[in-house]
Amino acid sequence: MMMTPAELAASFTDLDEADFDHLQRLLGSWGVLSDLSFSDLLLLVPAKGADGERLLVLGQIRPTTSVTLLRVDLVGQVVAAADWQVAAEAVRTGKVVSGVADVPAPTPLPAPLPSWPVHEQGSDTGEVPAVPDTAQFECVPVPLGGEVRAVMVRIGPLEDRRRSYRLERVYRDLYQRLAAMVAAGDYPFAGEDVTTEDAPRVGDGLILVDTEGRIVYSSPNAMSALHRMGVSDAVESRRLPDLGVEETAIDRALAAGCPVIEEVERRPDVIVLVHCTPLLAGGLVTGAMVLLRDVTDLRRLDRLLLSKDAAIREVHHRVKNNLQTISSLLRLQARRLAPGEGQEALREAERRVRSIAVVHEILSREPGDEVPFDEIVGSLVRMAEDSALSGHGVTIQVTGDIGEVGADVATPLAVVLAELLQNAVEHAFPSNGTDGAQAAEGEGEGTEIGHVDLVLANDGRRLTLQVRDDGVGLPAGFDIEATKSLGLSIVRDLVTGQLEGTIIMESRGGTLVTLDIPVASVDAGESWS
Ligand SMILES: Nc1ncnc2c1ncn2[C@@H]1O[C@H](COP(=O)(O)OP(=O)(O)OP(=O)(O)O)[C@@H](O)[C@H]1O
Ligand SMILES: [Mg+2]
Repeated sequence: MMMTPAELAASFTDLDEADFDHLQRLLGSWGVLSDLSFSDLLLLVPAKGADGERLLVLGQIRPTTSVTLLRVDLVGQVVAAADWQVAAEAVRTGKVVSGVADVPAPTPLPAPLPSWPVHEQGSDTGEVPAVPDTAQFECVPVPLGGEVRAVMVRIGPLEDRRRSYRLERVYRDLYQRLAAMVAAGDYPFAGEDVTTEDAPRVGDGLILVDTEGRIVYSSPNAMSALHRMGVSDAVESRRLPDLGVEETAIDRALAAGCPVIEEVERRPDVIVLVHCTPLLAGGLVTGAMVLLRDVTDLRRLDRLLLSKDAAIREVHHRVKNNLQTISSLLRLQARRLAPGEGQEALREAERRVRSIAVVHEILSREPGDEVPFDEIVGSLVRMAEDSALSGHGVTIQVTGDIGEVGADVATPLAVVLAELLQNAVEHAFPSNGTDGAQAAEGEGEGTEIGHVDLVLANDGRRLTLQVRDDGVGLPAGFDIEATKSLGLSIVRDLVTGQLEGTIIMESRGGTLVTLDIPVASVDAGESWS
């Protein structure tokens, strides 16, 4: 298992949190340094309890502008200071130290420290050396709280000054200015946000400006970005605002001496992120590095994602409307039939459709596909109470809640609950009229009160739902497994099938129905249907 830089620092170095914070910011923004120097970068920190004899590789980055010289990932490895004398010297002297050297093969990170095995040159893999025989090393001390306790090592090809292009010279020079800032403790800037994924890199487009904000150099990709923003003039020694790019980031960064990020929208369709880093030397601002990143496509994606969410809600809304239309149609048809079995059946069907509509109604209001089930319960309870004939008090009391559940659980569960509540108000208290024919208990109409209790619980792994009434209880010999009637067949099939749960129905001073539904497995699960 790969450890994160934070874990490595905590376990194997003496860095405290503030120190690590600074290094973390460096790790978040040093991609630019690597690109500008066309080099691999390593961040080395003296290892805990090794008395400066060993250095831990805390970070590594490869340039996107050049070929890497480090073919292996050294993060988490420990190297001997004796083999990395330039680095050790930078730590000791606090100065930038450079030289040409071979890179020794590092040893893997042993545990626990500090009883490391003796460093062995050339491990068993043997074939591929970590770097070519010689490379240019440059070690930049990183002061932490006034003391040098880390070093940034640049490993690049031996420079060939004769053959360098202007871009290369500008980039290398800019790297030197930034490296000096690292050594002075000025870079990365304190308090600067590290947003690695959004951070522009040099390849996105780089502009170098002087203290007045005049463009000294603009990379080809920066030129392209400017073109997309409608700039077609020559840019050298002009200021961006003079070119019609209304940004204030550069001026603000130059004035305040700290980085400024600004999103510039130009012409309806181009959005460019302007990331401006002031360059400091001896406490003075000497210019600024401006990275331009065309984020048009990214922002368009963001907007699409937002509208996708809205679209899903819109679909739920329409589904709900359609279900309501269906239930109205059923109601109309039921009215045209003479009282009897057919009419009853249509009424039942109408009610079932409505209980599904309730779920879509709520999904159409919620972002994401989790539904607060309590809201559904509220609607279902009202539906059941309404269907009990008026004047025959059946009260439904809800205790507990099951919080948010996925739509795949909410829909079948809503149907199940609607059936159970309906049964309670319909069958448990025969004299309330809905079961008219069997209402022969001799109690006066309109006076008795039936109680239905709905108890809900969710322990994160299982949902437990209980529907209890204090009515007449189940018919003798009733068996949920064997029942052929439609309502409870639906309940049984949904609970044991789609919801993969269990159902118990028993007579206990009325009827008690207990549902037990695993949530984890349903969430992760292939649904049964
Ligand atoms: N809470 C209850 N109290 C008393 N009897 C009940 C209760 N719930 C169900 N029953 C009995 O179980 C039978 C089957 O219920 P089920 O819901 O399957 O059918 P139904 O309600 O008669 O018709 P449907 O629900 O299809 O309209 C009911 O007819 C009733 O006799
Ligand atoms: Mg029923």
